[in-house]
Amino acid sequence: MGFKFSKDKKTIAILFGGISTEHEVSVITGLQVLNNINRDKYNVIPIYVSKSGVWLTGNHLATTETYANLDEIPLKSAKVNFDLNQPKYISVKSGLFNRNIKIDTAILCFHGGSGENGSVQGMLELMQIPYTGAGVLGSSIGIDKVLMKEILIQNDIFVVKHLYFYDYKWNSNQQEVIRECEAELQYPMFVKPASSGSSIGITKVKNAKELVNAINVAFQFDEKIIIEQGIEGYKEINISVFEDANGNLKVSEIEEVFSSNEFLNYDDKYKSSGTKSQGMASTKREIPAQISPKTKSLIEDIGRKTFKILNANGLARIDFLVNEKLNKYYVIEINTIPGSLSFYLWKPKGVSFTSLIDKMVESAIARYDKQSKKVSRFNSNILQNFDASLKAPKVGG
Ligand SMILES: Nc1ncnc2c1ncn2[C@@H]1O[C@H](COP(=O)(O)OP(=O)(O)O)[C@@H](O)[C@H]1O
Ligand SMILES: [Mg+2]
Repeated sequence: MGFKFSKDKKTIAILFGGISTEHEVSVITGLQVLNNINRDKYNVIPIYVSKSGVWLTGNHLATTETYANLDEIPLKSAKVNFDLNQPKYISVKSGLFNRNIKIDTAILCFHGGSGENGSVQGMLELMQIPYTGAGVLGSSIGIDKVLMKEILIQNDIFVVKHLYFYDYKWNSNQQEVIRECEAELQYPMFVKPASSGSSIGITKVKNAKELVNAINVAFQFDEKIIIEQGIEGYKEINISVFEDANGNLKVSEIEEVFSSNEFLNYDDKYKSSGTKSQGMASTKREIPAQISPKTKSLIEDIGRKTFKILNANGLARIDFLVNEKLNKYYVIEINTIPGSLSFYLWKPKGVSFTSLIDKMVESAIARYDKQSKKVSRFNSNILQNFDASLKAPKVGG
């Protein structure tokens, strides 16, 4: 499929798209990585997962124009297959041609869905392909706003007060759910699908009627929802944390992001006025955030701690709501695959996007090597003489 590869270079697959409400945002992150990866150093393979879940490749997938019509892409692209009996390789099929390509590292640019929730991570584990970012467990925890918060509470990290419900409860007793929310929380509240992203399916509500509507909306996206105490007069502060190949945690510059309305919505995040969207890099922001040195070092500390507690790896972004006067610092969420991989937070620290990508690849390979050295076999002789009949042993006479 037209790839010209050098034997001396590592081969890097860049994965993006996927079945997710954040499909388009992921395409932007993927293209940004494709445009900034050092092609003198790596053989590069774009892998685009369509909205219906077809895995595709071809050099044309590295060009923005290709995405003007998503429906046409499968017709023009080669298919990517994974074979469990051929670990570390993908096979690329185009017409009658089939080519096997060894992948040294996969850079994951998915946002939301199976690309960020641990599913793709699990497949890559089985395929023995190193990949960037959190593993299966860290990805699953990171996608679930309820689990993530419960674990942070256990570790004395502050999160906003919240409740959560499954759809069966809502379907059986709406009044009880509303009663519990009003007993525990005050308006405004934030209603979110448990595994949302990019503010999709999230509503800020100010009364019971809005609450009912918002819950119905959130259940369109997930079987579990979280209802949070809405807090006002707080700064929205983000930091990226990176775990290098030696396991050291580095922190990025800190940003403050601004919303145009009541809270940071999809348009605030990705639509810059007048110009083309640059994904998460389009958000209105101030870098560095105007915060005191004390707040800065607190955010850095809590950021590092949150990264480790939530089982993150490689790179993540941790988002806070901060009120310096009240001395309150709430972790709102971790993003295990942040929009635009947070490159704009590393630039002011002297790390270019190209070098961030290098470091992510090195970190992914180091983590894979470390994991591979752990004991995964246990030789015992119990299979040489065993009884599989499952008869209950005779007791007594
Ligand atoms: N409890 C809250 N109080 C005030 N604002 C909130 C609260 N939760 C979320 N927000 C606002 O909503 C936005 C999206 O919420 P978030 O939990 O980060 O979801 P997503 O994963 O979709 O980004 C935040 O960036 C913030 O502007
Ligand atoms: Mg967020």
